[in-house]
Amino acid sequence: MNKEQRQKIYDKVLKKIVPTKKELQDEKKLFIEINDKIKKMSGKHSYLEWCGSSARNTNLRNDQDLDLFLMFNKELTEKELEKEGLRIGKNIFKGHDWEKAYSQHPYIRGTIKGFDVEIVPGYIVKSGAEKKSAVDRTPFHNKYLLKNLKENQKNEVRLLKQFLKGIGAYGADLKNCSLPGYGVELIILKYSNFEKALKKISDWKIGEIIKFENEKITKFEHPLIIIDPVDPKRNVASALSNEQFERIKFASKKFLENPSINFFFPTKIKPWNKKHVKAMLEKKELIGVKFDFPKNILEDLVWGQLRRFLKKNSNTLKQTGFEILREKMWSNSKEVWFIFELNTLNLQKSKKIIGPKVNDNENVEKFLQNKKILSGPRIEENRIIIEIERKETNVIKILKNYLKTEKKKETIAIKRALKNYKILTEKDLLKEYKGEFKTFFTNYLEGKERFER
Ligand code: CTP
Ligand code: MG
Repeated sequence: MNKEQRQKIYDKVLKKIVPTKKELQDEKKLFIEINDKIKKMSGKHSYLEWCGSSARNTNLRNDQDLDLFLMFNKELTEKELEKEGLRIGKNIFKGHDWEKAYSQHPYIRGTIKGFDVEIVPGYIVKSGAEKKSAVDRTPFHNKYLLKNLKENQKNEVRLLKQFLKGIGAYGADLKNCSLPGYGVELIILKYSNFEKALKKISDWKIGEIIKFENEKITKFEHPLIIIDPVDPKRNVASALSNEQFERIKFASKKFLENPSINFFFPTKIKPWNKKHVKAMLEKKELIGVKFDFPKNILEDLVWGQLRRFLKKNSNTLKQTGFEILREKMWSNSKEVWFIFELNTLNLQKSKKIIGPKVNDNENVEKFLQNKKILSGPRIEENRIIIEIERKETNVIKILKNYLKTEKKKETIAIKRALKNYKILTEKDLLKEYKGEFKTFFTNYLEGKERFER
């Protein structure tokens, strides 16, 4: 495909993702409105700063969020900052839908005229590195990009955001272990445009470092390290998982080989009918666990906790003797679902245990003590082997036993969420095959990357 043809694709995409003039005007008007109100209000605040992608014209169409930062003098105590932030926030949202949200400090977010508005309190500090709290960096991100990102790079940012969105690797929330918007802007800043960025991304190696100033950098154990130019101790891409890193690399390579608008706007999933799902389930061995979505916990923490808990469940199954072919978490923010795909749902009664090396007399003796041996001991390769009898062989019972004891050790939020947990057999999964779960489950069973659809 030649340059002109590729440009055609980009133009087509941009036509759909650049906000309309009206959208941009409305956004600006709303900011001015809120800002005027806040200027007139008495209180301990200094000023309101418009941050986030909408402030620098790198936002996607219909992603109408206004990230506003209410700035306070750094001498103010945290308690006072919190109180003032909430008071002013609530005042602004009077007559609109709003809720209290939790970041470094609690703050108010809500909807005004179709825009998702956040009013986050922060301290005025001299630099991002001098921050008192994590959110204090945000205004510096804004200043840095307003100064360095060129006008003609803004749509390049939008293209890369939409590309990542299309392949399922975009966003700042910690649910999908993806790249946040600010990270995408820095990637374009570094590699200059969308196409050059994809070329570089295709060659990324695990541990890839992107940096801007000549700072000495801290060691990070992440697949991608984008040093925050306003705070060199922070990796902007810290949430990106190895899997997402590989997905982004792979998709970039594929796109360059064969550019298509499909990467940006993948074909929508058509949920399979029940018969189709049933036929597929007959070829697989699945078991699920469903429980309430944890409440009263910071959004930033919940996904980490859930992922750890998923891992613990699958490790238990592994240690018991199951082979895990696939594991997946899904949530509709009311409930959480774990799905495990196993080699079998029923283990054999006899369990093989691989013991110490045969010539390690002392440990062999210890190993054989007090064991009710079903078969063995015998030698395989250079190890001593025995078989004993399992108490439980069925995956449902094993999971239930595990959840009963493990619950006590979990965080309060997970413990509470597990109160009404349910084990889902394949029959249950079929019964639950409705609503949003249909799309997820079809996608799961189809097992395809979005850009391969
Ligand atoms: N931010 C950050 N680290 C995160 C999330 C957010 O530093 N993990 C800061 C960034 O300065 C970002 C701002 O908070 O620009 C607003 O966050 P968000 O709305 O999530 O991202 P945007 O950059 O506005 O991108 P998008 O177009 O996706 O809204
Ligand atoms: Mg934003």
